[in-house]
Amino acid sequence: MILITGGAGFIGGNFVLDWLANPSAEGIINLDKLTYAGNLATLECLKNDSRHQFIHGDIGDQGLVKQLLAEHKPRAIVNFAAESHVDRSIHGPADFVQTNIVGTFNLLECAREYWNALEGQAKEQFRFHHVSTDEVYGSLSASDPAFTEKNSYEPNSPYSASKAASDHLVRAWFHTYGFPVVTTNCSNNYGPYHFPEKLIPLVILNALDGKPLPIYGDGQQVRDWLYVGDHCSAIREVLARGSLGETYNIGGWNEKANLDVVKTICSILDQLRPRADGKSYAAQITFVKDRPGHDRRYAIDASKIERELGWKPAETFETGIRKTVQWYLDNPQWVEGVVSGSYRDWLQKQYH
Ligand code: NAD
Ligand code: TYD
Repeated sequence: MILITGGAGFIGGNFVLDWLANPSAEGIINLDKLTYAGNLATLECLKNDSRHQFIHGDIGDQGLVKQLLAEHKPRAIVNFAAESHVDRSIHGPADFVQTNIVGTFNLLECAREYWNALEGQAKEQFRFHHVSTDEVYGSLSASDPAFTEKNSYEPNSPYSASKAASDHLVRAWFHTYGFPVVTTNCSNNYGPYHFPEKLIPLVILNALDGKPLPIYGDGQQVRDWLYVGDHCSAIREVLARGSLGETYNIGGWNEKANLDVVKTICSILDQLRPRADGKSYAAQITFVKDRPGHDRRYAIDASKIERELGWKPAETFETGIRKTVQWYLDNPQWVEGVVSGSYRDWLQKQYH
């Protein structure tokens, strides 16, 4: 049994589905608060699978977390639960401090108490895997080398600052208490079940709806993009064979400027679902006000995980983005389910 937190979100949901696609995989306890970003429709195909047990709750709820650990005795915890959207963190940072910092602290403390009481092999094999982001390293200029695990932490947004704080707690629990942790810092993910407030799904859905495709500033900000299935396979490797107390950068070796990402999506849609008027979806591109404190460039040097654990991404950006666009075309029902009233309120607040 493993305990997953945030397993109804984008990456956690993909992780749960990928994990249980293996018929001999251990069962999963999935603890998720079901914020606006959590969506049980992602896990619909598991509703008759006894290996998956969903628990609606908060990682910050000490009583609940202690009870789950005592009852299910997981051999590992993988912590995906977080507030994850930079723009939302600018409008309202409090939830980010609460879940990403205080919530992770609570999870660490409950898990440490549980681990302290384990014995023998169970104690030796226990792992706490903290899922984090490359945004903790701050922003690069065009000529800087990519982030390695040795880069200093220089977070610039409330989101990245709260993730950085949680990474520091995880590190300290290893050094102070000997608590068995691993941390992964991953670049921007994309793929199926991605909530359409983030760039890639937002652009796909706005394009199909005939709406503007909003590009912040000059659109020359660079991100490294990784297909979500590759992030999940990397986490499985680190969980299985990562060295305790270590951090591993995970990336796709796919640096792209935002404007190029959006143009690529437009040209795939032009082929797969041409506009009725024969024009390109690129005609919908609209430059809007920049994000405050917008990081210019992220780039990940993922050579440590490749060297030490033999992990490499299976998808290129070209194959992954095509699969992703196709997935959104094939799954209008999932999209219908997530673009609720609260989603529309967000769009109104952010793009008015
Ligand atoms: P997401 O916002 O799609 O999902 C987060 C999930 O956590 C949701 O299901 C939500 O309901 C749940 N959650 C939020 N607060 C909770 C709480 N207090 N208790 C329990 N559950 C709670 O996020 P995501 O994109 O899937 O990201 C997952 C993790 O990966 C995060 O820790 C994020 O920082 C990290 N990460 C994301 C990316 C990316 O590109 N999306 C890249 C690198 C790292
Ligand atoms: P996002 O998907 O929010 O991820 P992150 O901020 O974690 O990198 O944004 C990816 C990039 O796209 C980022 O540089 C901001 C930019 N962006 C836009 O240009 N327009 C948009 O409407 C959104 C949501 C993002």
